Amino acid sequence: MPLWGVSKEAAVGSAALGLALAAGYLAGRRCHSTFDYGTHKGRNSPLQQYVLDHSLREHPSLKKLRLLTLDLPQGGMLVCSDQAQLMANLARLIKAKKVLEIGVFTGYNTINMALVLPEDGQVVACDISEDFARIGKPVWKEAGVEHKIDLRIKPANQTLDELIASGEAGTFDFAFIDADKESYNDYYEKCLRLIRKGGIIAIDNVLWHGRVLNPGKDDLETQSLHQLNEKIFRDPRVNISMVPMGDGVTFAFKL
Ligand SMILES: C[S@@+](CC[C@H](N)C(=O)[O-])C[C@H]1O[C@@H](n2cnc3c(N)ncnc32)[C@H](O)[C@@H]1O
Ligand SMILES: *[C@@H]1O[C@H](CO)[C@@H](O)[C@H](O)[C@H]1NC(C)=O
Ligand SMILES: *[C@@H]1O[C@H](CO)[C@@H](O)[C@H](O)[C@H]1NC(C)=O
Repeated sequence: MPLWGVSKEAAVGSAALGLALAAGYLAGRRCHSTFDYGTHKGRNSPLQQYVLDHSLREHPSLKKLRLLTLDLPQGGMLVCSDQAQLMANLARLIKAKKVLEIGVFTGYNTINMALVLPEDGQVVACDISEDFARIGKPVWKEAGVEHKIDLRIKPANQTLDELIASGEAGTFDFAFIDADKESYNDYYEKCLRLIRKGGIIAIDNVLWHGRVLNPGKDDLETQSLHQLNEKIFRDPRVNISMVPMGDGVTFAFKL
């Protein structure tokens, strides 16, 4: 669900886009990061923009999909591009061939991962709805990676169970957990079974825009994220890094 600042993006909408001074602004349009480092309040502090300007090497198809996605009212769900780039670099580093994407949306990170996989690589992409994937699919095709994407439209819980039942435990290299927050613990446990030793699980939104500091007693999403953070901190099955990027991402490296 669009949970933060989304309507801001939508409200700014096409009017501001029409006024947009330059490609520079368009290039700078990005996800809603929690970390507004630098001096500006707002979505593009100079320091943040500097980081993007000096590190983001976004594939043309990814850029196209990002801009297209940010025009949707739900655009706030988009993964951050710098985070996606780090995940692609990690996947390449470990020579990933099989990847799990839990929460596809328009497929930004799905094609981001597919682009670094070998020709016979595969992304098993899980979502409960195809509505947004359908919007992204022409770009998947343009990027030349459609054949690497196995889109499974049903609750991710069920897809993960099916993969385990069909003997695929220990065969995946990388997983990105980015769907319904209350199921994160189930996804984490199932991913740990599906990933090989040395494989990586990336868990998104682990800081939930700061709400983990003070989880409300009826706020089940924040509680779920906070409990998982506490559990993974003590989990001897993985090495970890919690990285302040995007909305906070934990990398768990399976031992
Ligand atoms: C934050 S978005 C994913 C963003 C995406 N990773 C990207 O690269 O931009 C969350 C997605 O999770 C999906 N979702 C929600 N509940 C789900 C469930 N139970 N199983 C699978 N997908 C689910 C939503 O439909 C939505 O597309
Ligand atoms: C996901 O599966 C687990 C068991 O593997 C179950 O306990 C949990 O309730 C399921 N979640 C949903 C949302 O169905
Ligand atoms: C990773 O886990 C191994 C095994 O528990 C441990 O020896 C090592 O110190 C850990 N490395 C880091 C950086 O935490």
